[in-house]
Parts: sequence; structure tokens; C-alpha cells
Amino acid sequence: MANDDLFKKLISHTKEYGFIFPSSEIYDGLSAVYDYGQYGVELKNNIKKFWWDSMVLLHENIVGIDSAIFMHPRIWEASGHVGAFNDPLIDNKDSKKRYRVDVLIEDHIQKLEDKITKEVEKAAKRFGESFNEEMYKTTNPRVLEIQGEVDKVRTRLVDALKADNLEELKQIILDTELVCPISGTRNWTDVRQFNLMFDTKLGSVTDEANTIYLRPETAQGIFVNFLNVQKSGRMKIPFGIAQIGKAFRNEIVARQFIFRMREFEQMEMQFFIAPGTEMEWFKHWKELRMKWHKSLGLGDKKHRFHDHEKLAHYANAATDIEFEFPFGFKEVEGIHSRTDFDLGSHQKFSGKKITYFDPEKNESYVPYVIETSIGVDRMVLCVLSNAFTEEKITKEDGSVDERVVLKIPAALAPVKLAIFPLVKKDGLSEKAREIHNALRFEFNCQYEEKDTIGRRYRRQDAIGTPFCITIDHTTLEDDTVTLRYRDTMEQERIPVSKLREILSDKVSIRTLLQKLG
Ligand code: GAP
Repeated sequence: MANDDLFKKLISHTKEYGFIFPSSEIYDGLSAVYDYGQYGVELKNNIKKFWWDSMVLLHENIVGIDSAIFMHPRIWEASGHVGAFNDPLIDNKDSKKRYRVDVLIEDHIQKLEDKITKEVEKAAKRFGESFNEEMYKTTNPRVLEIQGEVDKVRTRLVDALKADNLEELKQIILDTELVCPISGTRNWTDVRQFNLMFDTKLGSVTDEANTIYLRPETAQGIFVNFLNVQKSGRMKIPFGIAQIGKAFRNEIVARQFIFRMREFEQMEMQFFIAPGTEMEWFKHWKELRMKWHKSLGLGDKKHRFHDHEKLAHYANAATDIEFEFPFGFKEVEGIHSRTDFDLGSHQKFSGKKITYFDPEKNESYVPYVIETSIGVDRMVLCVLSNAFTEEKITKEDGSVDERVVLKIPAALAPVKLAIFPLVKKDGLSEKAREIHNALRFEFNCQYEEKDTIGRRYRRQDAIGTPFCITIDHTTLEDDTVTLRYRDTMEQERIPVSKLREILSDKVSIRTLLQKLG
């Protein structure tokens, strides 16, 4: 199945089964804003718990905070967001549609690259087994011509973005003869910078001075609390502060479902270190964070690093951890060496001394920072897109059935165990309820007695429940149940007394944490 189709199916599946709904749907929705349903919120909470525990429980020198979304507006001047958190935009005068210039040009480059792929595929068919793709790409005049154009446009784009050269960005649009996808015309405005922060007013007075921003990252709430945490917790460098919370960006091109949203959630950790040790700690956190992703078992080849060539104004090294989504490898987490930019800048803007006295060095300094920053919603998308599986099953009588199953890592699954009485009579429901009551304090369990067992299995497969148990007449005799595994659909008979052990072994966040331990 083409990845596009798979992605569309995933989006409708998450809606149909209570994971993710478009926001304000009965009012026709709100672009790039989503709500999490009954299973989505459980999955999201499990991801957040895994991240939080891996930071705060596994590191003696990392503590958490929960800072407010509203902050003093000067914070965003100090952080550089007021001046530089911009996207270059262009409007088409006929369609009145607004575009991010870099995205328009990237899309054009993608189209050229698709042309190369088509040329190569055609040639591969023509030449059959003797086809040498590498040689074809480096010698075929048509492919070389398109590749030359790709390289030229990409270099111009990177240079123009680096230099904030808005005239050159417009010139690229004109030279490549880009048309508006809606109106089909080249009637473009000039390129302008557009700040991505949402603003609002504090209190009842509506003058400029009361403008505050919805935070575009949670990190600044950590920086401005550096002294509070360090002093109240008597923290010694190196130490980290972790935070999970909402962030807001007025994204111009918001697409690909929950990949790019206007309201989203981040899990960020700022690790404060001595100046000069940042490359060592950068490497350390790169490795640790990759290990965290890999521990989920989403596939050996699904992650890769992408080191930044163009560094943000605050960084002296940066890398992304990318995941292979249905639409290609894309960033899920950023790891940045932020130097002393943030603390230094807050020191300057607030006029308050923000330094740390290092007893080992016997000197005071503004600490350097390594940041790990991951989007909760992007992690949800990693897990769901990887989990979504359509399977054909040959039944005992030879007929073929189909099932959709979410193969979510058991420790992250919204529901851990489904409990089914085989029939609603003969005391089976009561026995099933008894088991449910014993386990529900520790595990998210679901009791279901409607429909055939087969239908109940399908419903649980569709929400990713790793285990189902069936209570039948034998249960009443020997206190055993049938345990059914989601992924293999295998079944085994086990004593009720073993259930807790099996579950806690397989579905608790602890099993993931131990892999990092
Ligand atoms: N404090 C650093 C920072 O915010 P970033 O690369 O802009 O860095 C970090 O964002 C992470 O937040 C990204 O890797 C991504 O997972 C998530 N993220 C950023 N913008 C997002 C958006 N519009 N929608 C969903 N997630 C987003």
C-alpha cells in the first residue's frame, strides 16, 4: 500500500477508535489543532510518564518543574523570539493564500527529485537486470540536468535563509517560475517575515504594554527558574531541569496531521554544565536520547541523526533525531548545545546575576546548557504510525479474515488487559468482574461481555490492547483463563494467580526503564 494511503487510513482509524479528533469538529474544525480522545490521552500519558521517569527517576541530578505558560514579555525579547522567531512568507494576490517561502521552494525541489526517480524507474524497466542505477544517475544527460537544477536551487535557498535575504527568496520564486497551487498564477507579493508567537492581553487594559505571549517553547520557563531550583534544591553542576508542557506556534504551513500543530506539547530537559564541557555532554545526551527511542522497539532502521548545518542563534552544535514517518524521515527530537546564551541573556535583560559558584573550580560562571527537546505529539505519531497494521488471517476453515491491529509497545498501550466472560450466564460474568476488580488498581483493564469473542478481540486489536483473557466454564473449575496475545494471536491457558506477574513483567513502564538502566 502506498504510504499516502496508509497515512490516510491511520488518520481515520485514530478518529474512529477514540485516539485523536479534529478540534471543534462540530464547528467544522480549527486548522492544525487536535483533541485527544479516550485512548489517545492514555497513550500520551504513558509516553510522558516514560520520558519523565527516564529523566527524573533514573538521574539523581535531574529534577522536574511545571512553570506557567504566561511569562513576562521581556523573557521573549531576551530569548530572541521577539526578534528572530520568524518564518518568511509570501502571499498570492489572486488566491489570497499565504505560503512559507522555504516550504514552497522545498516542494519545488521535491518535484524535481520525483522526476529523477521516475526517469530512473523507467530506465530500470528498460534495461532490466543489467541496469546500473549509480552509473545512470551520473551519466544520463536528462538526470544530470535536473540534478543540476536541484543543487542550484537548494544552494540559493540555504544561502538566502542564512543571510535573511528576503529579496533573494522572492527572486528564487520568480526564477523557478513557481505558481500558486490554488490560483495557478505567479502574482506574488514581496516576501515578509512573520513572527510565529501568539500574543494576547494581560488584564483589562488593552494597550501595547500589556501584550504577553503564549510560550513557543517550554525551555524559557526552565531558564528563568534556574536560580530558584539550584538554590532551593542545593543542586550541583552538572544537573538538569525537566519539564513537560504545552507550547504554541502560529505555524503557517500546518500539515501532516499531528506532526505540525499550532498547540502542541513538549518534553524538554535543560542540562546545566561547566563551560568547555559542552561537546562531551552533547555527545552523551545524543547517545542517551537515541537509546530511549530505540528501547521502544519501533524498528532498528527507523531512527537516524541529522546534524544541523545552519545553527540557531543560541547554539554551537545541534542535531535532530529523525524518525521514519509514512511521509519520510522527519524530526521528532532536537538536541542542542545552547552555550550560555539563554542564562547570559536573561542576566542582561533582567539585571539579576545568574551565575553558579563552582566549589571544585573555586570560581563563578554562567553555566552552559545542553538541551533535549522532544514533541509529545510527534512521539504519539511515531508510535501510532509504526503500530498501524492491516493483516489477512487464514481461519481454520480456510476462509480469509482481515484485522486492523495497533502493535503499540505493550508498556505504552492505552488498555493493558481486556477481560471477557465467554457468555453472560453461569456465573462467568461474576468471575470476570472479580478478576477485573483485583487488577484494575494497577493496570488499565477493560471489561467486555457484548458480542462474540472474535468481535471483542477485533475491537481490542484496533485499540492496541496487548492481552485479552477469556473466562469460561473451566475457569470456575480450576481457576485458569485463556490468555490471548495481540501480535501473534496465540493463546495459552494460565492460572489466574499468575496474571499480575505476567502483566507487570510485560506492560509496566518499569520494563522500558530497565532497558535504559
Ligand atoms: N526548545 C527548543 C525547541 O523548541 P524545536 O526544534 O523548535 O526546539 C522541539 O522544537 C520539538 O518540539 C521538535 O523536535 C518537535 O518534536 C516539537 N515541535 C516543534 N514544533 C512543533 C509543532 N508545530 N507541532 C508539533 N510538534 C512540534
